[in-house]
Amino acid sequence: MTAFIWQSNTTPAALANGQQLYAQNCAACHGENGAGDGVFADDLAAAGESSAQTMTGAPDMTMRTPVNFTDPARMLGASPVLLQGKILRGGMGTGMPMWGSIFTEEQIWDLIAYIYSFQFEYNVVRD
Ligand code: HEC
Repeated sequence: MTAFIWQSNTTPAALANGQQLYAQNCAACHGENGAGDGVFADDLAAAGESSAQTMTGAPDMTMRTPVNFTDPARMLGASPVLLQGKILRGGMGTGMPMWGSIFTEEQIWDLIAYIYSFQFEYNVVRD
């Protein structure tokens, strides 16, 4: 059902645009295939271990490794608006940058459409 909604709301051009933006700006952390295994992911985990010691009293403000965009439980439970908010505002100290001042609203929705596409490709591969 979600697949249907997203496919009907997005165009091939929007997806292609999202894919390009993702490859240039997001894949280093989130991984080419969205699994959260980009080249910076290990660095973020290491930074998390050290920042947890220095940032006493702010347990949420530690570096974290990127989430797995191919996990169905995570992605099908996440609303598009939640993802948009995260991209706009960033992780506030977790390592997820703030993109709200960099991308247009249209670019951000193209990115979200592309992030959801990992879900559907994943299901196709696994089935
Ligand atoms: C420097 C590394 C880094 C880059 C670059 C990066 N992210 Fe993230 N991102 C993270 C981390 C770490 C998290 C998990 C922690 C958090 O939620 O704050 C995250 C979380 C997210 C989430 C929230 C997922 C959820 O279910 O809560 C979204 C959506 C997201 N990123 C999208 C993007 C997009 C789109 C881009 C490119 C425009 C991008 N990220 C670039 C590190 C990064």
